[in-house]
Amino acid sequence: MAQINPSILSADFARLADEAEAVRGSDWLHVDVMDNHFVPNLTLGIPVVESLARATDIPLDCHLMIEDPDRWAPQYVEAGAGSITFHVEAAAAPVRLAREIRAKGARASMALKPGTPIEPYEDLLPELDMLLIMTVEPGFGGQAFLDIMLPKIRRTRELIAKHDLELWLQVDGGVSAATIERCAEAGADVFVAGSAVYGAEDPALAVRNLRELADKASADAWWTCEH
Ligand code: DX5
Ligand code: ZN
Repeated sequence: MAQINPSILSADFARLADEAEAVRGSDWLHVDVMDNHFVPNLTLGIPVVESLARATDIPLDCHLMIEDPDRWAPQYVEAGAGSITFHVEAAAAPVRLAREIRAKGARASMALKPGTPIEPYEDLLPELDMLLIMTVEPGFGGQAFLDIMLPKIRRTRELIAKHDLELWLQVDGGVSAATIERCAEAGADVFVAGSAVYGAEDPALAVRNLRELADKASADAWWTCEH
């Protein structure tokens, strides 16, 4: 079943516990950490993740858009995150980092910006629990979905099948009722949605609608029919 991860980047930062409650039934809460160096925006860090982890039962999916994730990512596991995504463009030693995240008890995930190809990382995939394909340039919510990323999603799903991996494939950026089916058809199974969830009148209902659309689209997709 498709997993929907609302991004709190589009929530009210003064009311994060309530905003988590508003998306009850979500699989994960997506937490965008930005350092104003890796991306031109600044959001939140370890103390906020610690407080949020205490305030909600929904596991935290931390997306680190920061320099030097080799140094900082393990501390986000200690802060209570269940899944840590680092950017390959920023990591000095992605294999060592993924192993450290897993050893500390969280799921290890690696993100690719739109201009970063998947092919050089084929041999790294068994080290990961999830791969994130950005469908916008990271930094801001509410940007338009880049459908030129669909072939990369498809090629990544082919690699997952080829190596018979238990790897989740996440998409992040511009995912909405208008774009989620194309992502699911191409091979994504974890969907981050910020403005499409928190911009809706009923965020929990928006999550259910997105999940239903993704489930229907993937049910007939090439990559699920093979199984
Ligand atoms: C963008 C962030 C996203 C953002 C997505 O850099 O990584 O998680 O919240 O927001 P929407 O869904 O509005 O594109
Ligand atoms: Zn994100």
